[in-house]
Amino acid sequence: MSLPLTEQAVSVHPLLAGRWSPRSFDATHTIGDEELLTLLEAARWAPSAGNSQPWRFLVGRRGDSTYQRIFGALRPGNQSWADRSSLLVAAVAAELREDGTPHHDPSYDTALAVAQLVVQSAALGLHAHQMGGFDPAALSTALNIPDGYRPLSVTAVGALASADLLPEELRVRETATRERRPLAETFFAGSWGDPLRTGQDG
Ligand SMILES: Cc1cc2nc3c(=O)[nH]c(=O)nc-3n(C[C@H](O)[C@H](O)[C@H](O)COP(=O)(O)O)c2cc1C
Repeated sequence: MSLPLTEQAVSVHPLLAGRWSPRSFDATHTIGDEELLTLLEAARWAPSAGNSQPWRFLVGRRGDSTYQRIFGALRPGNQSWADRSSLLVAAVAAELREDGTPHHDPSYDTALAVAQLVVQSAALGLHAHQMGGFDPAALSTALNIPDGYRPLSVTAVGALASADLLPEELRVRETATRERRPLAETFFAGSWGDPLRTGQDG
């Protein structure tokens, strides 16, 4: 008899298993030029439809004006912790190709590039926390983002600090058990909703 696949038996790569989105960053940590370049290269080498590379990034280092301008567009809940990150990286997707035709799905491609930056952060011993909680119009104005380019996310990158440094409400979220929907409710085979099972013919 085949059984629905369960998550207990296997472990994923440590870079993926160890990745999470903290709020407590070390406000004294700075990112070196080589580390920064490594992160940007990781994003740049992401796959995209037809190698169209619809992404652009605005990169602020804590203390510089780009960081301040990105920070200013964050929602207050994110501002309450993100100011201790070493980097704030705004991901922006172009709607049109250079020949004026629409990109296939620029959000999909740009999110892949962000994912690569996030995993590369983990490989460098850093942490990354993506945010959709920002004002896209304010970000576009603050950073002179032209029409036809859509801000998708801001990612905070930095070195992890103790959860004890956070105010109570954020500390509770920081230390909460992380959860995911079970495999059987996520991966199907046969008909929609039928869980993938052990064994080839399951
Ligand atoms: C597109 C996107 C938008 C997000 N927006 C926010 C946000 O505005 N504020 C925040 O604290 N976390 C945000 N997150 C982080 C998620 O809450 C987090 O990834 C999720 O809870 C899973 O936790 P984990 O990353 O620690 O596994 C966002 C993540 C993604 C991918």
